[in-house]
Amino acid sequence: MSAVVLYGREVSKQIRAELKVEVDSIKKMGLHPGLAVVIVGNDPASRVYVNNKKKACEEVGIRSFEYALPEETSEHELIQLVETLNEDESVHGILVQLPLPKHINEERVLLKISPVKDVDAFHPFNIGKIMIGNYDFLPCTPAGIMELIHRAGICLEGKECVVIGRSNIVGKPMSMLLLHDNATVTICHSRTKNLKDVCKRADVLVVAIGKPEIIDADYVKPGAVVIDVGINRLPDGKLVGDVNFESVSEIASYITPVPGGVGPMTITMLMKNTIKAAQLSKE
Ligand code: GUN
Repeated sequence: MSAVVLYGREVSKQIRAELKVEVDSIKKMGLHPGLAVVIVGNDPASRVYVNNKKKACEEVGIRSFEYALPEETSEHELIQLVETLNEDESVHGILVQLPLPKHINEERVLLKISPVKDVDAFHPFNIGKIMIGNYDFLPCTPAGIMELIHRAGICLEGKECVVIGRSNIVGKPMSMLLLHDNATVTICHSRTKNLKDVCKRADVLVVAIGKPEIIDADYVKPGAVVIDVGINRLPDGKLVGDVNFESVSEIASYITPVPGGVGPMTITMLMKNTIKAAQLSKE
């Protein structure tokens, strides 16, 4: 293996320690950041994510409020809860865990979250602010990836960056953040022709496809930085990314592992956004 492994779990520990100092200091001024996490239904993966978010809150000293609603909760009931949380002064951040059950329209629910408490940065108002480069909150996964890249001392200016995936949560905002850092950005997706050729041009390859270990060394230029956003559970229970780590780590210069790469960074950025939301509430 020649690649340097970007251990998000370790970087996260360091950032969470920094955030704890910040929380301790604002608590002394009478401000105690609070995050409300809403989960609807029994999706096992969502349950794990929500538990990890609660643990992270404890670690940095953020108050967490969990609302676990049954699968049959109506859209109206969920929106009523969001509106109550919008008014609650002890709640600075609101996170509605996705995906929601099929009978609930996610877009309508996300629109109801007050943009000043939108710590996921999923509200169109915050997405718009990201587009123009003047934002309060960054979406957590792309922000976590940027933090990993910056803390590794990797410069993006003028680099060819290829993002595979065009979701509103990862692919699209990721591309904007790379652009803000003066990279040349290409977004690939399921209809992209000659995916392999496009990927092979990349100095930085961000993979958010959702298919286990689909990107191998054939897709990667020697010396590229490879960021794996995928989290896939194999039938034997093993957790793997979208990138074949064994093959790609032979030729990449930097690579993120799964688990322990991007995932912990995402949650750490949620903590950062919640602290920011608490501070903004006093301005
Ligand atoms: N589901 C998967 N990732 C996320 C995320 O970052 N935020 C929320 N709210 N739901 C998710």
